[in-house]
Amino acid sequence: MRTPMLAGNWKMNKTIPEAVALAEALAKVEIPAGREAVVCPSFVCLVPVKKALGSSKIQLGCQNMHFEAKGAFTGETSAEMLKSAEVSHVIIGHSERRALFGETDAVVNRKVKAVLAAGLKVILCVGEVLAEREKGVQNDVVKTQLTGGLDGVPAADLARVIIAYEPVWAIGTGKTATPEDADAMHAFIRGTLAALANAQVAEATRILYGGSANDANIDSLMAKPNIDGALIGGAALKPESFTRMIQYKA
Ligand code: PGA
Repeated sequence: MRTPMLAGNWKMNKTIPEAVALAEALAKVEIPAGREAVVCPSFVCLVPVKKALGSSKIQLGCQNMHFEAKGAFTGETSAEMLKSAEVSHVIIGHSERRALFGETDAVVNRKVKAVLAAGLKVILCVGEVLAEREKGVQNDVVKTQLTGGLDGVPAADLARVIIAYEPVWAIGTGKTATPEDADAMHAFIRGTLAALANAQVAEATRILYGGSANDANIDSLMAKPNIDGALIGGAALKPESFTRMIQYKA
């Protein structure tokens, strides 16, 4: 069975004191058995957030990583640096990285491989923009992103890959995909994983939904058979809403 995961993507929000305050509040939250929770603050907040989480079961993730191991890559952060900050999960290929920072599937693929080579876990984001959904080509777009992003990744390593389906038109807009539409895409993603790897990998891989997921819609999203969790932006910035989402009603 797939362990549900609720992951908070804090994006470029929160100063160190603000991030610590949020982490301290979340550290008091009871994480129901059989669920995983992850928070992904900015790089500068990783170490203080880890400290503030203390003995909480909440895991530490980050929002990006460079694929090179070290050297003259001004402004970038390597896998070893992240490991030394006790990061366990790395979000790769978020639509904002693709749209605003020019990340192609080829770059995403190099990053995915570097995260896996370092022994860390990947949260690989895929999702179509509004024009693509209106044209009805969302499945093709997501299949291309998955195929490109996972190119050359051995089936054994896919155990450390989590997919996040984030329709770009739903991110930060208050427009959520309906649970039915999200579930249909998740089923399509699972089928694509079966073709890329095998049925066992497809069955075991967690597929998170992201895009205006919040405390009011989480229960209906999680009720769907192919939705294994959520990657949460805005609603992860407040302890009350993220807590309610971790404690979604099954
Ligand atoms: P949102 O962001 O929940 O604010 O829509 C989700 C994401 O971009 O990961």
